[in-house]
Amino acid sequence: MPLSAVDIIARKRDGLELTAEEIRFFVRGAADGSIPDYQIAAWLMAVVLRGMSAREAYDLTDAMLSSGERISPDLLSGSTVDKHSTGGVGDKTTLVVAPIAAAAGLTVAKMSGRGLGHTGGTLDKLEAIPGLRTTLTVRELLAQAARVGLAIAGQTAELVPADRALYALRDATATVQNPALIAASIMSKKLAGGARAIVLDVKVGRGAFVKDVESARELAKLMVDIGVRVGRRMSAVLTRMDEPLGQAVGNACEVEEAAATLRGEGPPDFSRLCRVVAGEMLELGGAAPAGQGEARAQEVIATGAAFAKLREMVEAQGGQPRSLDQPLCGLRPAVEHVVVAPQQGIVISVNAELIGRAAMQAGAGRRRKEDTVDPAAGVRLVAKAGDQIAPGEPLAQVLASSPEQAGAAADLVKAAYRIGDRPPERAALVLERIRGNPPQGRSDQPR
Ligand code: URA
Repeated sequence: MPLSAVDIIARKRDGLELTAEEIRFFVRGAADGSIPDYQIAAWLMAVVLRGMSAREAYDLTDAMLSSGERISPDLLSGSTVDKHSTGGVGDKTTLVVAPIAAAAGLTVAKMSGRGLGHTGGTLDKLEAIPGLRTTLTVRELLAQAARVGLAIAGQTAELVPADRALYALRDATATVQNPALIAASIMSKKLAGGARAIVLDVKVGRGAFVKDVESARELAKLMVDIGVRVGRRMSAVLTRMDEPLGQAVGNACEVEEAAATLRGEGPPDFSRLCRVVAGEMLELGGAAPAGQGEARAQEVIATGAAFAKLREMVEAQGGQPRSLDQPLCGLRPAVEHVVVAPQQGIVISVNAELIGRAAMQAGAGRRRKEDTVDPAAGVRLVAKAGDQIAPGEPLAQVLASSPEQAGAAADLVKAAYRIGDRPPERAALVLERIRGNPPQGRSDQPR
């Protein structure tokens, strides 16, 4: 009997497990437009309400991966590693850990995304470097990765087209929040990138889209299991995202902070996260023995090799490496505005989501995909949780495209700071690690 979209929606509505064929039918229909949006949307809502088994999540990933081009792991030379963060505020980790991994001898050919909403994207940050090009073809990406050991480019239109179609509908129908849908969306893109080892930084907390540890653990396990089934070495690190990461939130200011971190001068929380994620990458990719990843990461920072690797990548992609030595990559924001403390006290918390929205208001982010970003805009946090402050002392600096935007951003920054009289409890930055290795001899390609 031919498959019918209505029957498949009804089966999921009634809580039944879908077959691989039924899932492929829906994903193909979403990618080629043969199933109308209203049926895809109804199916997505049924998935969110009824859930999917691990087997269904794997079949969904496989179907999405098959919807477009993918890089075969055999096309990449050397020991390859990739990383993904589920998204945070001030999360410039890729700009630090990818050069560390490449400086330690691994190959990183990374496809990254743009920022949307209150979280930023690696591509927008990189493009703050004057001249730097992120629109590499797959051939250019592979050639640069082979030559330099490091290349970061935008996802091509051919990469997992089903995700683009499904994500646009999920965004518009409140169906983003489902572990199987999120895992398949992320893992199909990571698997298409071709790296044999993948480290996932799964963010948990107020500023992340996963708010509690149990849900983050479930998502992490699902993604690790999917990768292992396809023959990739996997590690997921659960890390807290309540406060913005580091002090810079924006584009050029985040590049500035990433460069400082590669010189060994980064903020403590961000530097620690980078050592943890880079350490996992080095161990998983075989560039450091078990338990030695963080120390090796620290070593390539201390020798200057990791910063040199970032400069090499910037130059290879047409950017000016010297801009990494200048504040805000040599750019100047139209308006600079300092937000001061209204009272004496201790900073109890800095709400990551509000700071992310402030940076967006200032001009650093986009509300819709078509919006352009101001590379010089953003927020630099001067005070973070635990800091003592006196009235009139700076809390943060807003870098904005116009006085109106500076005013709106400053209001959000003020609202983000909670000030009290007792130091806050310190939550651990790294909560858990979940690793998965495929059994020996497993194929590297999905069916
Ligand atoms: N990031 C993705 O790429 N996909 C999701 O579904 C959620 C976060």
